[in-house]
Amino acid sequence: MWILGIESSCDETGVALVRADVGSGLPTLAAQALHTQAAMHEAYGGVVPELASRDHIRRVLPLIQNVMHQADVGLSQLDVIAYTRGPGLAGALLVGAGSSCALAAGLGKPVMGIHHLEGHLLSPFLSADPPTFPFVALLVSGGHTQLMQVDAVGSYVLLGETIDDAAGEAFDKSAKLMGLGYPGGPALSALATLGNPLAFALPRPLLNQPNLDFSFAGLKTAVLTQSQKLGADLEARKADLAASTQAAIVDVLVKKSVKALKQTGLKTLVVAGGVGANRALREQLQADCRKFGARVHYPEPDLCTDNGAMIAMAAAMRLGAGVQSPQADYAFDVLPRWPLAQTLT
Ligand code: KG4
Ligand code: ZN
Repeated sequence: MWILGIESSCDETGVALVRADVGSGLPTLAAQALHTQAAMHEAYGGVVPELASRDHIRRVLPLIQNVMHQADVGLSQLDVIAYTRGPGLAGALLVGAGSSCALAAGLGKPVMGIHHLEGHLLSPFLSADPPTFPFVALLVSGGHTQLMQVDAVGSYVLLGETIDDAAGEAFDKSAKLMGLGYPGGPALSALATLGNPLAFALPRPLLNQPNLDFSFAGLKTAVLTQSQKLGADLEARKADLAASTQAAIVDVLVKKSVKALKQTGLKTLVVAGGVGANRALREQLQADCRKFGARVHYPEPDLCTDNGAMIAMAAAMRLGAGVQSPQADYAFDVLPRWPLAQTLT
């Protein structure tokens, strides 16, 4: 069967087509297309929700046509249309939900509303090296930082999460303080390769607490204080400050992930969300997990950040596992704040 996935929760319009056939293994990606609005929001230093919604409206139909053309599949061949129902920006989500339901109603096909984080969580199943259940998932995006125990599709237990800023936010806010533009994560991590991670001692909050929660709000204050102290020297020491900031974030993420593996007794870690693209995080996780025989799985690099493939994949896997049925009810809504655990009901 053919499942079209549409993601529009934030600043990326993503569309993809996944093929899922009963009894023939994991679903596979047939085609995908993406438009990122990063350049549009850069001038404002962050996502402007109204501009995001308007841009999704402009992009979504051409992207659908693009994907169908790439895969050489006709709209009438679609079996299900899946869209991100939440969490995210309400207006942005409504564009994906509205266009999916309108298209589905026109074609007489059913729809599925999908949780954005479940998309991230299951995206490594589209990789060349897919994980197997059960596993611990580290979800690290611009809006979320969570450790979950995943026993099966639809079975997600929250082990710990950030009590303030998300890891991606810590990257983005620190990068902004250093004048590195938006979104700052990739820029900060590129600059960090030129610096010394031990140059500045930055805080690693909650690192030695027995729980699996995170806190990153103090880090940006420490980065601000450090850059003010440096004054005119900031320019010359920027790479060192970037490297030290990255080291603090990565250190906490790695140590807490290892703690979650040990606590649950699991030997498989799945890393998903935009920050999962970070090279330093990958290297340190790899090294620390190898020490006790645990394996780390990631989505393919282009599926780490928001995309339509993960939404189509989550729909395919929920269908395959029998935890959600497609609906021919087009009175859609969106859930801007939607706890992942509630997708069970
Ligand atoms: O998952 P995602 O695309 O969107 C959300 O759902 O939030 O994640 C975006 C976040 C941003 O904060 C961005 O700066 C961060 O992921 N990010 C990175 C890297 N690539 C993206 N952070 C650190 N290093 C990277 N290489
Ligand atoms: Zn995301």
